[in-house]
Amino acid sequence: MYFSFKLIIVLALSAISIPVSAHCSPTNQSEACLCTPDQPVTKYPNKCQITKVFDHLAQGNFSAFLAQVTPDVQWTLMGTHALAGVYHNRTIFAIDALQRLSKTLDPAHKTSLKLTFIVGGGDSEWSVQELHGQGVCKNGLIYDNKFNWVTRWNTEGKIAECRGYLDSALVQRAITENESGEYTYTDQRNVLKAGPVGTGCTSE
Ligand SMILES: *[C@@H]1O[C@H](CO)[C@@H](O)[C@H](O)[C@H]1NC(C)=O
Ligand SMILES: *[C@@H]1O[C@H](CO)[C@@H](O)[C@H](O)[C@H]1NC(C)=O
Ligand SMILES: *[C@@H]1O[C@H](CO)[C@@H](O)[C@H](O)[C@H]1NC(C)=O
Ligand SMILES: *[C@@H]1O[C@H](CO)[C@@H](O)[C@H](O)[C@H]1NC(C)=O
Repeated sequence: MYFSFKLIIVLALSAISIPVSAHCSPTNQSEACLCTPDQPVTKYPNKCQITKVFDHLAQGNFSAFLAQVTPDVQWTLMGTHALAGVYHNRTIFAIDALQRLSKTLDPAHKTSLKLTFIVGGGDSEWSVQELHGQGVCKNGLIYDNKFNWVTRWNTEGKIAECRGYLDSALVQRAITENESGEYTYTDQRNVLKAGPVGTGCTSE
């Protein structure tokens, strides 16, 4: 009697398929956790929809991503580096910032661009996306940039404004050193090349 009762419980439990949400916590932003059925309709893209927009970037499909950006977007790249400034035009941003930076990367190496966390979205006009870009520049510089894009969405689900905060020093190195060709990361630097104030910060 006891064993058969136990067997019934086991059979009953095995009949219940474990839902996807079993692994989901408030910080688990996997698509399976975010994109549950019966998404409430929100004024601005919710985290599931934002994930789908950024999936295009992860797949290297820049044109599909840019289709979700308004043509007259106001895109600010913060910091002090060659790409910093305010762009008022999607095409100019795409060519002068995104393409110029991606051209410093060596296509022979694996590159990746991952969305790691989203804050906001849904009923909020603004969201923050934490991103992680990795690759190797043509001159050998390891490109490993954790950055974030603070975005304002319009009601058509497109990015109308963005403020990007990024690793200025890394971007400057990628641009300057690649475009000038002055340094490569396989160079043997055994000769003292004194800076403007000399070694040990004393002028010679
Ligand atoms: C997040 O959720 C997904 C889908 O349910 C699951 O596969 C993954 O293991 C979870 N990650 C963590 C860190 O719990
Ligand atoms: C990019 O995305 C668009 C829209 O989803 C699709 O039609 C196109 O085939 C994709 N391009 C590539 C190279 O995957
Ligand atoms: C963006 O700039 C391009 C190139 O100068 C121009 O052809 C286009 O009309 C501009 N778009 C907007 C929305 O200003
Ligand atoms: C650096 O980038 C520029 C512009 O994208 C490219 O034309 C050039 O070949 C690159 N330089 C090197 C050393 O790879």
